[in-house]
Amino acid sequence: MKSLSLPLVLALSSFAVPALADDDLVARGAYLASIMDCTGCHTGRTADGMPDPDQFLTGATVGFEMPGLGIFWPPNLTSDATGLGDWSDAEVATAIRTGERPDGRILAPIMPWMSYASLSDDDVAALVAYLRTLPPTPNDVPGPIASGNEAVLPYFAFVVPE
Ligand code: HEC
Repeated sequence: MKSLSLPLVLALSSFAVPALADDDLVARGAYLASIMDCTGCHTGRTADGMPDPDQFLTGATVGFEMPGLGIFWPPNLTSDATGLGDWSDAEVATAIRTGERPDGRILAPIMPWMSYASLSDDDVAALVAYLRTLPPTPNDVPGPIASGNEAVLPYFAFVVPE
């Protein structure tokens, strides 16, 4: 049997490999999003407080008050315009690892970007690739507010005993 020439084999394998690699990347991103609890914070909840599959990573319905910083609701991570739709992949990766949003604001540390700072390039790429597979879902989560301002959604408060 005549064997394929080496350049042809290379051309065929470079055609076949990226599709497999993309699947692997997305699967790894899904795994990381689960164990790094992106899902726990950025998923909406039903009235009885359970994570709602219909609001999977579309932004939280419960926020966090950080003393001295304000109240923060985990935003929509889908690629709708109310989520990360207008962000480049590099901007999403930068926010995850450095806390810096495209507008220059540094995310509150309740978003654990300080812990995520040491993510490898491959792992942050996997997370972004996975987020891009989520169905774009409109959900305009309220931006941060100063403590004491009227909140439109519930939030966890940090109480210091007297
Ligand atoms: C403990 C809760 C928590 C966890 C866990 C968490 N986040 Fe967040 N995240 C937040 C909060 C709260 C904000 C908003 C902070 C702010 O506005 O300053 C945020 C903001 C973001 C932003 C910026 C979005 C925007 O519109 O400004 C991105 C991107 C993001 N998170 C991705 C992730 C990913 C990916 C993971 C998992 C690897 C993750 N987050 C895990 C709470 C969390």
